[in-house]
Amino acid sequence: MKTLLLVYASQSGRTLQLAEAACLGAQPFADEVTVRLLPALTAGVADLLAADAVLLATPENFGYMAGALKDFFDRTFYPAQGKISGLPYAVLVSAGNDGRGALAAIERIACGYPLRLVLPPLLVRGELTAADHAAATELGATLAAGLSVGLW
Ligand SMILES: Cc1cc2nc3c(=O)[nH]c(=O)nc-3n(C[C@H](O)[C@H](O)[C@H](O)COP(=O)(O)O)c2cc1C
Repeated sequence: MKTLLLVYASQSGRTLQLAEAACLGAQPFADEVTVRLLPALTAGVADLLAADAVLLATPENFGYMAGALKDFFDRTFYPAQGKISGLPYAVLVSAGNDGRGALAAIERIACGYPLRLVLPPLLVRGELTAADHAAATELGATLAAGLSVGLW
């Protein structure tokens, strides 16, 4: 059994909706992949060490990731050092009209662990559409499928 960890921050609920859509996408692989959806403020290093892949989900706030996700990185960076090298990850960002700052910051920090980006980032701008929900579902499905067949 593999574990897919979803760490999310969300203030008004958009990012959470996308993270939940990603969980839905992973559901068909439930026999092989356990999905854990955790708020960034409560996720910790033990959750990261137990994960076979991680999906990081955040809004863009002030040109950066949510403070809660940054806090997750701050708390886990040193305790995880040397223990999760190359852990596969993907990222989704819900932004008002940009999102590039959050994405760049996450990718930069992920290099430090180092985590391994295995899928193109999902960047959603503005109100969520059905297509955005579908893209998040597909992201979760692809991550879980890759885990289930040992692609990553
Ligand atoms: C304090 C604050 C700062 C924000 N800064 C940005 C920003 O720099 N760039 C951007 O595109 N959107 C920005 N937004 C908009 C949010 O990224 C957007 O509404 C997002 O979908 C919210 O996701 P959530 O509902 O998961 O919190 C900001 C929103 C808030 C509340």
